[in-house]
Parts: sequence; C-alpha cells; structure tokens
Amino acid sequence: AREIQADLTETLVTEAEIHAKLAELARRIEADYDGKDLLLVGVLKGAVMVMADLARELKSHVNMDWMAVSSYGAGTQSSGVVRILKDLDADLTGRHVLIVEDIIDSGLTLSWLLGNLESRGAESVEICALFRKPEAAKVEVGVKYLGFDIPNQFVVGYGLDYAERYRNLRDVAILAPHVYS
Ligand code: PRP
Ligand code: MN
Ligand code: MG
Repeated sequence: AREIQADLTETLVTEAEIHAKLAELARRIEADYDGKDLLLVGVLKGAVMVMADLARELKSHVNMDWMAVSSYGAGTQSSGVVRILKDLDADLTGRHVLIVEDIIDSGLTLSWLLGNLESRGAESVEICALFRKPEAAKVEVGVKYLGFDIPNQFVVGYGLDYAERYRNLRDVAILAPHVYS
C-alpha cells in the first residue's frame, strides 16, 4: 500500500494529545453519569476511533450502539437533510444517550441527529465530539463534551477521511493541497 505521510503538510493534533483529552472527557462523563446506565451512540464511520478510545477510558459500564447517516443532495455541500443508512439496534426509551462524534463541521449532521434521537423517548441526549471547526458552523450545536476547536482546514486521520482514505492515520493532520486540487 502507498505511504500516507507524503499526502500531509503538518500534524495538527497528535495521538498522545488526543488520548490525554479523551481521558479528561472520560473523567467528566464518569462523574456526570455516576450511577446511571449510559448508552454511547457512535456515528459511523468517522467516530469509530473516538468511540474505541473513549469507551476504553471509561471505568464504568457502558453500552455501545452505532448509527450510519448520510446527507442528502448532490455536491459537497451538506444540505442538512439526513437519511439513516443504518439505524440503532437499541430502544432509547428512558435511556441516557451520549452521541459520540469525531467532528462538528457545519453542524448539520449532529443537529439533525440530536433532534432525531431526542424524539425517541430518551431520558437524556448529549453530545461528545472530539473536534469542532467553529468557522465552518452553519448551525450551532450544543456539545457538552468537546475535545478541540480546530481551524477550518482539510484535516484527516483518527477516523476523519478524505474520499474514504486516511482514517487509519493515528494523528490528525492537514491534507496537502496536491491531494485534492
Ligand atoms: C463527517 C464527520 C461528521 C460529519 C460532520 O462524516 O464524521 O459525521 O461529517 O459534518 P457536518 O457537521 O458538516 O454535518 P461523513 O458524512 O463524512 O461520513 P463518515 O463519518 O463516514 O466519514
Ligand atoms: Mn461522520
Ligand atoms: Mg467523511
């Protein structure tokens, strides 16, 4: 397989920085959900790495479930209309739900998902997102557990893809312009 490194300009957040941040967030989550059953909902595919590492940082019991969603509409602009490709297995009635996401970009995916999950009778629905691009926001999303605000650049790695590649990069890095131009 071809080398990833040649497609990157600089590392933005290292694997060690990510793990330290997830440990911080896990301590807050443990305290906030003390004595409660927590369902982590990962959003495929980007959130796979965050889910795997956050869940293993937690010292309390959790359930994990997964959803896959896709934005409708042609082109690269997200329309805000979302379609469910794979739904949850779990019934959310009375559950404490924490959505686990890799990144909030425009915010359209999570604002739709939050409304969708809240309509299913959950006791609570909160969001944990490792990254957020404040300059790209089209809608504000109330994120309770946030890792890092990052600049509005093309970032890949740690689950974040460009054309389905680079998800397996351990760090988060800036994609070199020659890759997409
Ligand atoms: C990416 C990312 C978030 C979403 C954020 O997922 O993983 O889920 O976009 O963008 P938004 O805030 O503008 O809605 P994508 O749709 O690329 O699917 P993937 O997770 O399979 O890469
Ligand atoms: Mn995603
Ligand atoms: Mg993607």
